[in-house]
Amino acid sequence: MKNIILIGFMGAGKSTIASDIATRKSCVLKELDGLIVEKAGKSIRSIFSDEGESAFRDMETSVLQSLSSLDQVVISTGGGIVGRSENWELMRKTGTIVYLRACWETLAQRICGSEERPLADDLEKAKLLFEKRKPLYEMADLVVDTDGRTPEEVVSDILSQVTGR
Ligand code: S3P
Repeated sequence: MKNIILIGFMGAGKSTIASDIATRKSCVLKELDGLIVEKAGKSIRSIFSDEGESAFRDMETSVLQSLSSLDQVVISTGGGIVGRSENWELMRKTGTIVYLRACWETLAQRICGSEERPLADDLEKAKLLFEKRKPLYEMADLVVDTDGRTPEEVVSDILSQVTGR
């Protein structure tokens, strides 16, 4: 199976879908945010507050780079991965990029009150960020709508389009 990279805004369900794909295809799951936390030895919120967002973005790119030579993996990214063109180059050479698309109402419900997401503290700002990023997410190889669908349906849809079954 070609590597699958899931992108989408916070609350799109990237972690859940990635984990389900890994289970269904018996492949390895790589969680970018989890790897960053491991590497930094602190939470994403602490990285943002101690070192600033740009330091977090540097770590994000470097972890993404470290995954680019792997095979048979499904990668769950953080919502901001689409912001750097360098990340696009890395993602394109790593695998098939799949955008999990959801409407703002769905996303807002899921991220509202989120402890781990510094960029979701202010929902008005988060909405603007979502609007700004939308065209970037749409640059994925595959766009999969998730609103009103179960994770099973979304996973089947992705796998049928990426692997042909
Ligand atoms: C971010 C999304 C988060 C995490 C960080 C920044 C963003 O990941 O990487 O808080 O810029 O959208 P999730 O999309 O998994 O919440």
